[in-house]
Amino acid sequence: MPADKKLWGGRFSEATDPTVERFSASVHFDKALARHDIRGSVAHARMLGRTGLVSEADVDTLVAGLQKIETELASGKFPFDPALEDIHMNIETRLRTHVGEVAGRLHTGRSRNDQIATDLTLYLREANAAAQGGLLDLRRVLVERAAEHVDTVLPGYTHLQRAQPVRLAHHWLAHVEALGRDASRFHDARERLAASPLGAGALAGSTLPLDREDTASALGFDSPTRNSMDSVSSRDAGMEFLAAVAICMVHLSRLAEELVLWSTTEFGFVELADAYSTGSSLMPQKKNPDVPEIVRGKTGRAVGNLVSLLTTMKGLPLTYNRDMQEDKEPIFDSASTLADSLEVMAGSLATLRVDAARMRAAAEDPMLLATDLAETLVREGVPFREAHEAVGKIVGHCTRDGVDLRSISLDEMKGFHPAFPASSAELLDLDGSLEQRSLLGGTARATVQAAIDQAGAALEKEAKALEGTLASLQEPAR
Ligand code: ARG
Repeated sequence: MPADKKLWGGRFSEATDPTVERFSASVHFDKALARHDIRGSVAHARMLGRTGLVSEADVDTLVAGLQKIETELASGKFPFDPALEDIHMNIETRLRTHVGEVAGRLHTGRSRNDQIATDLTLYLREANAAAQGGLLDLRRVLVERAAEHVDTVLPGYTHLQRAQPVRLAHHWLAHVEALGRDASRFHDARERLAASPLGAGALAGSTLPLDREDTASALGFDSPTRNSMDSVSSRDAGMEFLAAVAICMVHLSRLAEELVLWSTTEFGFVELADAYSTGSSLMPQKKNPDVPEIVRGKTGRAVGNLVSLLTTMKGLPLTYNRDMQEDKEPIFDSASTLADSLEVMAGSLATLRVDAARMRAAAEDPMLLATDLAETLVREGVPFREAHEAVGKIVGHCTRDGVDLRSISLDEMKGFHPAFPASSAELLDLDGSLEQRSLLGGTARATVQAAIDQAGAALEKEAKALEGTLASLQEPAR
C-alpha cells in the first residue's frame, strides 16, 4: 500500500515493505476488539462535540458512520485489510469511506496508544465477568453432584496413597472452594479496571481541552486514570487476568486429572458419559477421557500465555512500545481457553456416572482407619506420639504377617497398648469414623450437608451480583 494511503503516511515517501506490512499487522487478531474500539470512538466523538472541538453536525456524521461499521462487523461484511495494520486504522479508514473527510476529525486529541489501552480495558472487564460466569456454572454442577453423593464414601488420598475415608460430596466441595477463590480473583480484578485511559494521548495527554471525565463515565468507568504515562504503558491488568486464568486452569487441570485417574480400570470410580469421551481409531474397546486430558493439556498454554506477557513487558521502558502488541494473542487465547474448559468440565461432571460401590469398597480398606485407632488411645489419655507408635506396630504386624487389621482381639490389642478398650473389629467403623469428624470443615454427614447448603446459597448470591455486573457492562443506548 502506498504510504499516502496510510493514516500516518505524511512523513513517508516510500511504501512499506510487504513483509514488514505482514509482520507488523495485528488486525487478524485485534479485530476481537472491534466492538470495544467503536464504543470508545463513539464516546470520544461525543465528547469532542460537547467540548466544541468538533461541531455537533460532524459528531452525528461520525457516530452514524461508526454505527454503520458496527453493522458491517456484525454481519461479517467488514473488509479487513492487513495493510492497514490494526483494528483502529481499519475502522478509521472505513469511516472515511462512509463519511468522507469528516472522518479525519475523529482522532482529535487521541492516539492509538490510549485507544488500545481503553479497548483492552473494556475487553478485560468483560473477560473477567465471563470467567466468573463460567466458574459459577461449573460450581453449580459440582454442588449439585455433591448433593447427590453425600453418602458416597471413597478414600481420600495424600501422596496418591489411600489416607482416610471421605464423602464424595466433601471431595467435590474441596474443588468448589478452590474455584470460588478463582472467581473472587476475577471479581477483584475489576477494581483495577475502573479507570479510563482515554485522553492520555500518545503518552503526555493533549493540548486540547478534552473532557476525560465525560468519556470515562460514557464508557462506564468510575473515573479517568491519573497518570497519562502509566495509562499507555501499563499492561498489569492483562497480566493479572492471565495469572488468574493460569491459576484457574491449574485447578481445572487437577480436577481433570482426577477424572482421568478415576476412570481407569484400576480405579473404576467413575465413567465419563459417551458425549464427553472419545474412542480409539485402532482399539475398539477404548473409551478415552480426552476431554479432561485436553483441559489438562491446555493448562500448559494458559501458563505459557502468562509467562509470555510477563516476559514481553519485563524490559520495556515507559511508555508505549510496539512490543506491547504481543499482549493480545495470549489474552484472547487464555480467555477462550478458559471459557471452553469451564464449559466442558461442567458438562463432563454433570453427566459423569459414579460407581459408588467401587468407591465404598476402596474406602473399606481398614488401614484407612489407623489414625482413628490412635485417636481412640488419645481419648483414653495416651499421648498421641505413643498412640501413633502402638498403632504403627499393629499396622506393621498386619502388613508383614498378612493379618486383617479388623481381626485383632482385645487381648492382642492390649499387647500393643494396654489402654486399648476393645478389639479392632469393635473400634474400626467406617461410617462412625466419618461421623466423628464433625468439626468445622470435616466429613460428618450434617457438616457436609451444611456445607452444601451454604455453598448453594453463596452461589445464588454470587449469581445475583454477577447479573448486576453484567448489566453495568452493557453499553447504554446511543
Ligand atoms: N496495534 C497496536 C497495539 O496493539 C496499537 C497501538 C499502536 N500504537 C503505535 N504507536 N504504533 O499495541
